[in-house]
Amino acid sequence: MNLKIGVIKGDGIGPEIVTEAMKVLDKVGEVYGHTCEYEQLLMGGASIDVHGIPLTDETVETAKACDAVLMGSIGGDAKTSPWYKLEPSKRPEAGLLKIRKALNLFANLRPAVLYDELKGACPLKEEITEGGFDMMIMRELTGGLYFGERKTVEEDGVLKAYDSLTYNENEIRRIAKRGFDIAMKRRKKVTSVDKANVLDSSRLWRKVVEEVAEDYPEVTLEHMLVDNCAMQLVRDPKQFDVILTENMFGDILSDEASMVTGSIGMLASASLNETKFGLYEPSGGSAPDIAGKGIANPIATILSAAMMLRFSFDLDKEADAIEQAVSQVLKDGYRTIDIMSEGKKQIGTVEMGDLIAGYIK
Ligand code: IPM
Ligand code: MG
Repeated sequence: MNLKIGVIKGDGIGPEIVTEAMKVLDKVGEVYGHTCEYEQLLMGGASIDVHGIPLTDETVETAKACDAVLMGSIGGDAKTSPWYKLEPSKRPEAGLLKIRKALNLFANLRPAVLYDELKGACPLKEEITEGGFDMMIMRELTGGLYFGERKTVEEDGVLKAYDSLTYNENEIRRIAKRGFDIAMKRRKKVTSVDKANVLDSSRLWRKVVEEVAEDYPEVTLEHMLVDNCAMQLVRDPKQFDVILTENMFGDILSDEASMVTGSIGMLASASLNETKFGLYEPSGGSAPDIAGKGIANPIATILSAAMMLRFSFDLDKEADAIEQAVSQVLKDGYRTIDIMSEGKKQIGTVEMGDLIAGYIK
């Protein structure tokens, strides 16, 4: 099979970690008889430097012509980078929001898994994490506060800013269906997170999620208020299977969930539309402070490539091979600095990519 993959290396550690993921994909191609055809795309700061804006319409069109997009990370240090002297709509992050909307990537899957080998990095007490945890945050990605009308006005000499949170029932239904579909392949539990004690948009969310649940009698649905969910994630993360939530809540809760695993450098993510197309990226950021030092952990990006094979290309065996290779490298005691612990072997970005590629069979 020929895989046409758009590649956004991006900023900070992006180019280093994406290079390793491509190395692993090439090895998968070699072993399983596929060819990877890469199309380099500029987004974020890298695009600002060349085009003056974080994402051009031409790049969006080129991305659309690919089967999937693999991305590193975008953005720089907001205090020192010239990109942040630009108006908000021209900063690196605006490119990310634009591509999500333009490609209709409404379903954002963010797994948060506690790896057995990395338990030591988890900040929670052992009695809480005993037995591990494995949850999937399903975040709505193209609606809500992120894309509602916003403006800043001056009224009687006083500045006033508006951000509007809107959802229509169709937007809620399609993400809810995705959430239940994913739950059917997992432990069949959906926790729908909202703020229905205050917000109208949340009350509609709850109503539509309940309607969708009727088509999935095997799945247990529970509703949880977002403030409670933030607390439950540290009190008892094991209770969660699929967390289904709107854009802003998902942004916040997915950072919290990744932190409780203790190893954000390990977490992949996928953003999908109605078709097989998806954008795959590590959950962590561009980490400008360690860029170019050869120490960034490429595993989250490599696991994002595995998600890409699974969701966009239906190549389950190949995705399994990547995930097993990652497990094996961890079992053998190799660690990048972010997940290093006593008695393990510390290695750099490139070595980690080489080792994982070497284990693909
Ligand atoms: C994320 C990021 C983005 C978001 C930022 C960079 C706009 O935090 O993907 O979670 O808020 O969605
Ligand atoms: Mg975020």
